[in-house]
Amino acid sequence: MIGSGEAVTADLLCLRPGAKVADDYESLFTDPAVERWLRPEPMAPFSRHDMERMARRDQAHWDQHGFGPWSVREREGGAFVGRGGLAWAAVNGKLEVELPWAVMPSSQNRGYATEMAIAAIRTAREFGVERVVSLTLPANRASRRVMDKAGLRYVGEIEHVGLPHVLYELNL
Ligand SMILES: CC(C)(COP(=O)(O)OP(=O)(O)OC[C@H]1O[C@@H](n2cnc3c(N)ncnc32)[C@H](O)[C@@H]1OP(=O)(O)O)[C@@H](O)C(=O)NCCC(=O)NCCS
Repeated sequence: MIGSGEAVTADLLCLRPGAKVADDYESLFTDPAVERWLRPEPMAPFSRHDMERMARRDQAHWDQHGFGPWSVREREGGAFVGRGGLAWAAVNGKLEVELPWAVMPSSQNRGYATEMAIAAIRTAREFGVERVVSLTLPANRASRRVMDKAGLRYVGEIEHVGLPHVLYELNL
């Protein structure tokens, strides 16, 4: 049963993170192919503590807003795929609804991040969100391609967490 703020796509279940999500996040975010984009040097690698904090923060986001980041699973078989959804975040000195996405390397290049992004945009509209943004390191071609495929528009370069990032937006 899918609840408010959750989504079903052609291939994916996009769910409110449950009690054990820190374990799934650890398998995702400590994979070197994922971590390199989210914790580039000189940032410290993710620790177990970071994963538990991310899980608590995502769950608190849902409690506060009724929507939030998703723990995403395959409809067929239920394997953990990644993290997507929506998250309020400080971007360029403003509070914005950001679209986060990260996909397990074994499940990449099947269109999953794009499905997650399109579902997150639909959910944002349902909750009356007026604008969503996405940002990534300039060299992250896969993430920028997902932004393009999901219909976001390139705005420009900004500094975020002390590093140059590209910012994309979609007015809803
Ligand atoms: C970015 C990420 C979420 C994309 O997930 P995904 O499920 O593979 O995305 P999709 O399959 O929907 O689309 C990926 C697109 O990028 C393209 N792509 C992949 N690697 C690429 C590369 N190195 N250069 C250019 N394009 C690339 C794919 O060909 C595909 O485009 P296409 O459909 O036109 O062929 C995944 O690579 C990831 O988790 N990366 C690590 C975490 C991360 O970078 N998160 C975003 C940080 S803001």
